[in-house]
Amino acid sequence: MMRCKTLLPIRDVLVFSSGRKAFYIAREEVHLAMSQQSGLQREPLLDSLRSELEGLDRDDLLWRIRTLQSPSAPRAKVDGKNVLVLCSNNYLGLANHPKLKQAAIAATRKYGAGSGSVRVIAGTMDLHLKLEKVLADYRRAEASITFQSGYATNAGTIFSLVDERDLIVSDELNHGSIIDGCRMTKAARRVYKHKDMNDLEKQLQDTDHFRRVLIITDGVFSMDGDIAPLKQIVDLAKERQAITYVDDAHGDGVLGENGRGITNHFHLEGKVDVDMGTFSKAFGCVGGYVVGSTVLCSYLQNKVRSYLLSGSQPPSVPGACIAAIQLVQRSPGLVKKLWDNTRYFKKGLKDLGFDTGNSETPITPVIVGESGKARKLADSMFKLGVFVLPIVYPMVAKDKARIRTIVTSAHTKKDLDEAIDAFEKAGREMALI
Ligand SMILES: Cc1ncc(COP(=O)(O)O)c(C=O)c1O
Repeated sequence: MMRCKTLLPIRDVLVFSSGRKAFYIAREEVHLAMSQQSGLQREPLLDSLRSELEGLDRDDLLWRIRTLQSPSAPRAKVDGKNVLVLCSNNYLGLANHPKLKQAAIAATRKYGAGSGSVRVIAGTMDLHLKLEKVLADYRRAEASITFQSGYATNAGTIFSLVDERDLIVSDELNHGSIIDGCRMTKAARRVYKHKDMNDLEKQLQDTDHFRRVLIITDGVFSMDGDIAPLKQIVDLAKERQAITYVDDAHGDGVLGENGRGITNHFHLEGKVDVDMGTFSKAFGCVGGYVVGSTVLCSYLQNKVRSYLLSGSQPPSVPGACIAAIQLVQRSPGLVKKLWDNTRYFKKGLKDLGFDTGNSETPITPVIVGESGKARKLADSMFKLGVFVLPIVYPMVAKDKARIRTIVTSAHTKKDLDEAIDAFEKAGREMALI
């Protein structure tokens, strides 16, 4: 303000009007006068954002978000068109399941629409605690802690566990929420080549001076559908006294007995220090979690900033999540059908000659190369009545743009045949196969 006065006395402007609006106009003029005098030429914010958006559009990297006008289900209305959906994370078809809806409504009736606060103040309801108990029992863990989302879980948990005295060793293809969590800390970082255990071993050398070494990996890699070699990671961690952290967002409800996740799949229950997951995919709801020891969960309750500083989930969410876990436990057929559909669909695409990468799970990429091609294929598929999305840089490497397909246990064989036929038609038109 002192400097402003010397450039353009603010009262000269304020005499024209009064009130808040006039003050803003005055401030803008002061800034303009200041920059004219100093020669400063900062690009106005909206101009610079617009030109960035134009650049993304030119490079075919702009998100064009389609709108669902019906529940998330294999058949849905999207942008006014009835389509077959092959891009949701609704692995077990629970997002619109009557039992989950009933549970959400019952919880809302009993507890209301909101929780009232953050967990540590007045936002922990007995329903949140019940979910944590049901989840820990399901995952055969001592304890669990739930958060508003998987993103909030990764960002908050990683930050709470390491600082400048520590080292994070991370797979190069880890999910963005892990990358963001790592970036927030002051810990040193090393990245190992995707699933390359020799490289991980190398990155674990010369680490004696760190207080903690945290090895972090996706369980199922979200863009490729391949599975982390968790057993070898746990063994290496043991040798080097490192801590293990797995993000099982795409393994929950998918891998292991009754969908108990990657630790069950590899018989590693209780052997991974931080076992993180989310309710936003196979469980059809929203919310992240960590299962592990009681000490770890108590520590996270006291230290994770996204837990301490952000309102807790509305009661309908833990209500529906409890119903989802109970349903998955009582219906082993759900996970089996998911895998039957996965095998059938993958084979259909492979037989047509598509490049489906190294997927081992219901996530099947159709890799086409340039982002423009991926976009064109997605558009053709939509015209043919199949909703799939292009995945482009920065979510994947620039030359690895793809369509990411995800089948669910709710798809029928007829749905899958229809999707395979559409891929064949669109793929031939674009000379991809
Ligand atoms: C591997 C992985 N981790 C974490 C997340 C974040 O989970 P949420 O959607 O619950 O925030 C996602 C979701 O996209 C994911 O794919």
